[in-house]
Amino acid sequence: MNTDEFYRAEIEKRLSEARFIHSLNVADEARRLAERYGADPKKAYTAGLVHDIMKDAPKDVQRAYVIRSGGGDDPVLMSQKALWHAIAGAYVLERELGERDSEILLAVRYHTSGRAGMTLLEKIVFTADFISADRSYPGVEEMRERASRSLAEAMEEGLNFTIKDLCEKRRPIYRDTVDAYNDAVFAKEQGE
Ligand SMILES: [Fe+2]
Ligand SMILES: [Fe+2]
Repeated sequence: MNTDEFYRAEIEKRLSEARFIHSLNVADEARRLAERYGADPKKAYTAGLVHDIMKDAPKDVQRAYVIRSGGGDDPVLMSQKALWHAIAGAYVLERELGERDSEILLAVRYHTSGRAGMTLLEKIVFTADFISADRSYPGVEEMRERASRSLAEAMEEGLNFTIKDLCEKRRPIYRDTVDAYNDAVFAKEQGE
């Protein structure tokens, strides 16, 4: 596992100032959620730090990494540019920056789409991205309260928002996102 100092320098180099600050905030929030829900706070911080490492890369570069990762055959994935940076990020972290921690790589890989059977760390980074200190959308305070009460509730709400937004824009919905949403609904029903 590379040091946080290494990653901080790496993302500062690759990201806009606003996105760099967002990444530091997501890292802080992920550490807090890890302490609250019993995940490894150090891993959560690192995963938060690097989750958007490829977000400011040109779209054609992101796309090339998605294809290299084996995603080229999926028309929904290829049509949804917002998902590319997460897959590209996990690829770059593993193949170019030598990250070996599979939990961190998965948390980056699935921080936008979600997937069936998400790990605790994946859920934490997904949720931290919605409630980090730089976020200011209407309803963010309710989302923060939800996240401090129940991770399942926060996940369900976040995925509900994502799916609704895509529906309204008449965009396709990636199947991993539907799977994550269904998991979150069941988890919430079971009071997790
Ligand atoms: Fe992202
Ligand atoms: Fe983010």
